[in-house]
Amino acid sequence: MSAGSSGGGDPFDDRGADVNGAGAREPTAPAPGWRWKAVCASDELREGGNGVRFDVPSPDAPELPAFVVRFEGRPRAYLNRCSHMAVELDWQEGRFFDDTGLYLVCATHGALYHAADGACAGGPCRGRPLTALQACEADGKVWVAIRTGRTG
Ligand code: FES
Repeated sequence: MSAGSSGGGDPFDDRGADVNGAGAREPTAPAPGWRWKAVCASDELREGGNGVRFDVPSPDAPELPAFVVRFEGRPRAYLNRCSHMAVELDWQEGRFFDDTGLYLVCATHGALYHAADGACAGGPCRGRPLTALQACEADGKVWVAIRTGRTG
């Protein structure tokens, strides 16, 4: 089994839970009060290609739109909310990269973000980053850390 994470550490160990009874395992919880959510199959993400949108459940707020892309071989997940104004980045669903395939771009006014960490790379974001989510890849799926609100 191989696993990679954009949040550090190997998300799998022997404590991983069998989530559907078919031998598939959910990665070990990233931290107390968090769990992993499978958001897409690994092969849905091409390097620098279209992203996959998903919603982040929140224990005390409406679901938040989010997305994941592949960059430098790893899944990179962010809330789908520009730091300039609270709008989603993609006018065309799943189109988050600019033409270079290096930066994430907001379609509204052109804010550019580094794909590796969501830092502002220029434009109206004026130094404000995207909100990054911890993501990993294992067992043919891309997983994102979701807060459960429970700490035990
Ligand atoms: S809303 Fe994203 S750049 Fe203005």
